[in-house]
Amino acid sequence: MPKLSPSEPFIHKDCEINNSSFGAYTEIGQGSRVSNSTLNDYSYCDRFADIANAKIGKFSNIASFSRIGPTDHPKELASLHHFHYRSSYYFDNVEDDSEFFAYRASRIATIGHDTWVGHGAIIRPEVKVGDGAIVAAGAVVTKDVSDYMIVAGIPATPLRARFPKNVASRLINLAWWDWPHEKLKQALPDFRALPIEAFLEKYV
Ligand SMILES: CC(C)(COP(=O)(O)OP(=O)(O)OC[C@H]1O[C@@H](n2cnc3c(N)ncnc32)[C@H](O)[C@@H]1OP(=O)(O)O)[C@@H](O)C(=O)NCCC(=O)NCCS
Repeated sequence: MPKLSPSEPFIHKDCEINNSSFGAYTEIGQGSRVSNSTLNDYSYCDRFADIANAKIGKFSNIASFSRIGPTDHPKELASLHHFHYRSSYYFDNVEDDSEFFAYRASRIATIGHDTWVGHGAIIRPEVKVGDGAIVAAGAVVTKDVSDYMIVAGIPATPLRARFPKNVASRLINLAWWDWPHEKLKQALPDFRALPIEAFLEKYV
């Protein structure tokens, strides 16, 4: 495994990447698909993640086989089938329905900083997962998740908060995810060992 780079994402083999941008030290696991999305600095996904129309903050940890922003078929029209919007696949001299694709692309899922999306979780379009939040393995997230909340199940509901509210808000104010790379390096021993109160005491 080569070192991650500040200047370009490390994209493992067999990935499909369309219209997406990546920050420093980002990594895309083998066989993943990323379209119309941004992954900010230090965020990564493991193998076979499928990410569409998503805005992902810094330091997000996205487990394998998870899906962010699975697109919806048109429920209200005569047919659910994509022949009537992905029409160029099926017919000569017919264009795809660009309006439909533009609408889909506009339904952005937002994933905060320092989040953890568990194995096989699904996060619906337009849902916002707050900073520091955890989505349990196998969850289907249909509603916004508060900062530093852990959600689980189908549909996902709050399991418990990671930290008391005042600790969560101090972490958000601290915004350590915006620290320069060198400062993160210096603070490594504290990230590894300090209890949260002592960490906040030292850095806030
Ligand atoms: C969400 C998670 C972090 C919670 O961990 P935890 O706080 O140690 O949770 P616990 O084992 O104490 O379980 C707490 C409760 O949540 C339930 N629970 C835990 N994980 C769950 C899940 N994925 N879906 C539904 N319920 C879950 C437990 O059954 C337990 O319920 P109970 O209180 O009724 O007994 C963890 O369960 C999880 O899903 N981790 C993701 C792991 C993963 O996907 N790793 C991939 C590599 S990055």
